[in-house]
Amino acid sequence: MRKDFPLYSGASKDYIYLDSACQTLRPIPVIEAMSRYYLDYPACGGRSVHRLATQVSIEVDEAREKVASFLGAGRAEEITFTKSCTEALNLVAKGLRYRRGDVVVTTDFEHNSNHVPWLQMQSAHGIKRKFVITPPSGLFDIEAYKKAMSREVRMVSMVHTNNISGTGIPAKEVVEIAHDYGALVMIDGAQAAPHQEVDVGHLDVDFYALSAHKMLGPSGMGVLYGRFELLKTLEPLISGGGGVSLTTHEKADFLPPPERFEAGLQNYAGIIGTGAAVDYLSRLGMREIMEHDLRLNERATSRLRAIPNLSILEPAEAKHRGSILSFNIKGMSSHDVAMILDEIGKVMIRSGMHCVHPYFVARNLEGCARASFYIYNNIDDVDRFGDKVSEVASKFSM
Ligand SMILES: Cc1ncc(COP(=O)(O)O)c(C=O)c1O
Repeated sequence: MRKDFPLYSGASKDYIYLDSACQTLRPIPVIEAMSRYYLDYPACGGRSVHRLATQVSIEVDEAREKVASFLGAGRAEEITFTKSCTEALNLVAKGLRYRRGDVVVTTDFEHNSNHVPWLQMQSAHGIKRKFVITPPSGLFDIEAYKKAMSREVRMVSMVHTNNISGTGIPAKEVVEIAHDYGALVMIDGAQAAPHQEVDVGHLDVDFYALSAHKMLGPSGMGVLYGRFELLKTLEPLISGGGGVSLTTHEKADFLPPPERFEAGLQNYAGIIGTGAAVDYLSRLGMREIMEHDLRLNERATSRLRAIPNLSILEPAEAKHRGSILSFNIKGMSSHDVAMILDEIGKVMIRSGMHCVHPYFVARNLEGCARASFYIYNNIDDVDRFGDKVSEVASKFSM
């Protein structure tokens, strides 16, 4: 299927793109779906009644239905389109009404997008935070989570698969325990939804946020799933035209979800492209994708394990890390590793703290280099990556 990705044709065909956890490449069907919008019906949706606008509204509705079915949501109205996973997480964190002393439980592995909004709520509304600390094994500590729970916990907001080590939480169990305490659960699925089957109904989760651009979708697109009854209680993050049924000089009547959260003209090409992306993923099958990513990671892990002066971020076994492999080379900054890999081998990875600063700060680490694999990568990519990392370590490690 690599031929579906234009980057692999022409001058860039020998690029080794291993930065899909940041943003994936886009296949032709997604690009074409977006182009069709701009070429054939480049109008606004949900407002005007002419034929072009009507077609946009129909395409947006269809995209919403596709995403709902991809995530196992009960109804399309439970899907809100946002510009990112960050916006989806903010929408919930800032849309809830708090009582002083409400506790929010997260892990110590949260992306800033599921950390900074809670810090803001801490100063604005006096909420309290509790962190489930990751032990040296790198695996989620369910006992520590149980200890963090109490009747004061209002929300458990956790990353499904973290973007540094690639480990995950046992989401269903986490939800069950939280609900036993009467707490809500939001899951940050930015790194999980691209690589595994997610069924929000089966998980029984209250909110699930994801990034379309990490799963073949257009840049600047995210999704929030929320239980319809709960969505009705959230304050919109952004308000204005398109989000209300009627306003007077004194008051505004908000539309039901999801329209109330989608005020202002929307990224119609992005929404339609997101629908095309989930179609593409569904055709491939999420189980096959998960197996493919893991196969590549297992091979990459065994290649890197053999390199002296290189340490892999725990857990050591690829089976716990899905599509992510993070590492450090002794005596080198992760940014230097990434820049040299690009320079000598056109190998593109990510480096630094990956927007999870507290995790690294607490452990006095500068960051790590991260390779992330996806459907268009193959064994040749992995072997070239292994060769080039080995070259960097042998030449530059101190
Ligand atoms: C785990 C996780 N959560 C949230 C985000 C933020 O996603 P977005 O760029 O869609 O806002 C990222 C992005 O890297 C991520 O890895």
